[in-house]
Amino acid sequence: MTARVVVVGSINVDHTIALERFPRPGETLLASSLSHSVGGKGANQAVAAAKSGATVAMVGVLGDDPEGDTALHALQQAGVDGRSVRRASGVPTGSAWISVASGDNTILVVSGANHQWTGIEPSLQQDDIVLAQLEIPLPVVEAVAAAAGMFVLNAAPSQHLSDELLGHCDVLIVNEHELAEVSGLGASDTADPAAVVAASHALVKRGVTAVATTLGEQGAILCTADETFQVRAPVVEVVDSTGAGDAFCGVFAAQLAAGASISEALRFAVTAGSVSVQSATAQGSYADLAMLPSLVHRTPQVSTL
Ligand code: RIB
Ligand code: NA
Repeated sequence: MTARVVVVGSINVDHTIALERFPRPGETLLASSLSHSVGGKGANQAVAAAKSGATVAMVGVLGDDPEGDTALHALQQAGVDGRSVRRASGVPTGSAWISVASGDNTILVVSGANHQWTGIEPSLQQDDIVLAQLEIPLPVVEAVAAAAGMFVLNAAPSQHLSDELLGHCDVLIVNEHELAEVSGLGASDTADPAAVVAASHALVKRGVTAVATTLGEQGAILCTADETFQVRAPVVEVVDSTGAGDAFCGVFAAQLAAGASISEALRFAVTAGSVSVQSATAQGSYADLAMLPSLVHRTPQVSTL
């Protein structure tokens, strides 16, 4: 039986500036273009899960402004149940200010309505796969983690997390920088698989069941107490990596909801990330996620480390 994915998280509008290269502090540069799209790690993950075939509900807060209308419409268009998305008055919808140069990006988030959660209690069913990120208040994430039957946390943007929260994580998804911060092991060479495995095991000791670390072109590594897998990403041309991590998280949760094993979910999630980096924006690059079953053969079999 297929379970529902419930995403509890942020919803933003993204303002993306295309650049030849990133400016240095104090420097003025001429940009190539400015474009507007829908984003937010929560909304992106909900859309990615829905595009890959899952039944998805979103819990989040928008401002009572035209940007909020646009963001809600985008969720509904993607087939996400938006009935638990609230509108807060007197605060703007969250916004993200993104610079993209040579496929890479930097992102500044102005939280706005994403921090107005007073009085909201997500209604969860025991078999829901609950997926959260850290662009909403941490106490909301902690409460949801404690209530969820199966809880997946994408620790982005990263911060220090309590052992109690880590103990509720069935799956913790991080990139290499987030892994260094959340594990407290610091920025050792987390591009080195052995360092990723060591940091992941430190988190497993603190209560996480499985740690999945995304490594860009290197794919991803997943560690539990007994198993370690690596999946390598297919070689593709990177146009815009914005939202690639969100495609990974949404598809990982969608696969768990469909009953896949964690190693199979990892293959699908890495493939989803590689689909998303090949075109511009976050949600705008998720259209092909419906084709994942025919694309996943490009992602080599899981190897056991
Ligand atoms: O992960 C990408 C997302 O981060 C963007 O869509 C932006 O809104 C920020 O939340
Ligand atoms: Na993209």
